[in-house]
Amino acid sequence: MIRTITWKSPPNLAIVKYWGKREGQIPMNPSVSFVLGNLASTTRIMYSTSISAGGLGLARFNGRTDERLTLRLQNYLDGVYQIFPGLSKIRLEVDTQNNFPHGAGIASSASGFSALAFGIASLADELQEEVLPGLNFLQKASWLARLGSGSAARSVFQGFCVWGETQLWAESSNLYAYPINADIPSIFNELRNTILVVSELPKAVSSTDGHRLMENHPYGHGRQKQAETNLQRLKLGLSNQDIYEFLLVAEEESLSLHALMLAASPGYWLFKPETLMLMSIIRQFREDSGVATGFSLDAGANVHLLWFEKDREAIQQFLHDKISPICPPERWLVSGIGYGAERID
Ligand code: PMV
Repeated sequence: MIRTITWKSPPNLAIVKYWGKREGQIPMNPSVSFVLGNLASTTRIMYSTSISAGGLGLARFNGRTDERLTLRLQNYLDGVYQIFPGLSKIRLEVDTQNNFPHGAGIASSASGFSALAFGIASLADELQEEVLPGLNFLQKASWLARLGSGSAARSVFQGFCVWGETQLWAESSNLYAYPINADIPSIFNELRNTILVVSELPKAVSSTDGHRLMENHPYGHGRQKQAETNLQRLKLGLSNQDIYEFLLVAEEESLSLHALMLAASPGYWLFKPETLMLMSIIRQFREDSGVATGFSLDAGANVHLLWFEKDREAIQQFLHDKISPICPPERWLVSGIGYGAERID
């Protein structure tokens, strides 16, 4: 008999970025992010315990069999079998889709792997297999997600979370993310994110290669110190309800992420001319108007415009007057802070 487990999980945006990793998907520095509302991957696992051959049959993305995805998931499952050996005896098929446009440059690996990890954690429960003893369900899902894509560990929790060990949050871990919403005042529930899609082309250099270029990076040591300082600034900014400090940290971290790419060997860049234009316009608007808005970048050319609900009118006007000539409204994805994953079967 074939059974199904389906989970829906969001992507996330890091304010303090994770860049560079060690063996076993251990981050070189701790990061803090929030999950995005409105956007999600939905991943269905179909499984059968009665078919003798175990392993992944095939994987489909947006309804189509996808060989690259199948290969990536097979590799991923090889890692999962180390902690969940019973899974290797089970026949699986995976069907995943995103509700945001494919190629929009939104990291779907975080939402996709976290939805899949939730499915695997549920499967372990259904089969009464003891996987990662001592951890609660969300920690298990976060650990399993981390094995697929580091940042996916942070898509498991609603609101804000930290991933990577830091003295600032005693319960933080390199192995799974830890939710920090209790430390965050309600003004941050009003955080909005309009994603300005500059490029739909695949990245010239993947994040996997980018992480690798952080090994022996000339600024690697400095980056770790900077991330720790920015985490302190962020934590203080959050608790003081200092939305400007929050935005400044987001911007500095994004610029630093891209500076690390430029200074790698070989150096590279993922931003486009429009990315730079948008960043300048956003800064100028903040300086001229005093409106609390700023930008964040992921490993790509798209710009996340961060703002707060109280400034909706001013932001709408700004988008219309200054942003749309460079990035028209059909290239905007409207999001905000999200409420996390849910099981939907
Ligand atoms: O999770 P990965 O391996 O795709 O790494 C992505 C890291 C960034 O998105 C660039 C930064 C972050 O912390 O999310």
